[in-house]
Amino acid sequence: SSQEILKGKHVLIALGGTVAPIDPVRYIGNWSSGKMGWSIAQAALTMGAEVTVIAGRTDIHLEAQKRLMIQRVRTTQEMYEQIEKHFGQCDVLIMAAAVADFKPANVVQQKIKKDPHQTVLNLQLTPTVDILKKMGHRKNHQLVVGFAAETQDVLANAQQKLVNKGADMIVANDVSQTTTGFNADNNKVTILRPQQKPLAWPTATKHEIGQRLMKLIAEQLS
Ligand code: PMT
Repeated sequence: SSQEILKGKHVLIALGGTVAPIDPVRYIGNWSSGKMGWSIAQAALTMGAEVTVIAGRTDIHLEAQKRLMIQRVRTTQEMYEQIEKHFGQCDVLIMAAAVADFKPANVVQQKIKKDPHQTVLNLQLTPTVDILKKMGHRKNHQLVVGFAAETQDVLANAQQKLVNKGADMIVANDVSQTTTGFNADNNKVTILRPQQKPLAWPTATKHEIGQRLMKLIAEQLS
C-alpha cells in the first residue's frame, strides 16, 4: 500500500542539539528542541521504515517503539561515532540535528571559579567534526539529506552547503524568525537538490513538513 512505501528501508535520523562541555557543570548549547527531526522519524515509521534516531539534547519526550531505536548522545563527537556506526546499514541519513560547530579547546576538570576582579572571561574554541560532510563524501548507496539553518542569504548559503557537504538534498531553513525554525511548532523550508529546481514549501507544522519530506525522499529512493 502507499502507506508502506518505505518498508524494508532503514532511515537514520540525527536530531536535537549537541552540546560542548566547558567544565564539569557548564556547556555551550543551542535552541534545537528536536521537534523537526522527531516529526520526520514519525513520518518514516508511518511509511513502514526501520528508524534509528541519534538524539542530542531535546525538549521532547522520545520513546522507542516498534521499528524505532533511539540512541542518546551529548557531544558532536559522540553523535559522529553513532552515525558512523549505523551509516553502513542505512538507506537514508537525515541530519536534522543542530550540531555544535565549535567546542572549548580545553575542557577543564574543575568548575571554573569566578574571580571578582575579572571583567572578561576568554574561552578558546576549536572546530568539531562536520558529520554531514564526512558522510556526504563517504556514501555509496545512501541518500544523504542535510538541513541548512540560516538567518540571511538562506538559499545561497544552503546551495553552498549542498555542494560542499556532498549532500543529495538540503532542507534550507530560515531560522531568523521565532515562529519557525528552532523550537517552534511550525517551519518554513525550501528543498534544494543538485540539478533540480528548488521547491519552496509554504509555512506548515513540523508534522506536515516531516510527512512531505519523507514522501519526497521515498520517491527519490524508488
Ligand atoms: O529541533 P527543532 O527545534 O525542531 O529545530 C529544527 C532545526 C532548526 C534545528 C532544524 O530544522 C535544522 O535546521 N537543523 C540543522 C541545524 C544546523 O546545525 O544547521 P547548519 O546549517 O549549521 O548545518 C548544516 C548541516 O550540517 C545540518 O544538517 C547539520 O546537522 C550538519 N552539521 C553541522 C555541523 C557539524 N559539525 N556537523 C554536521 O553534521
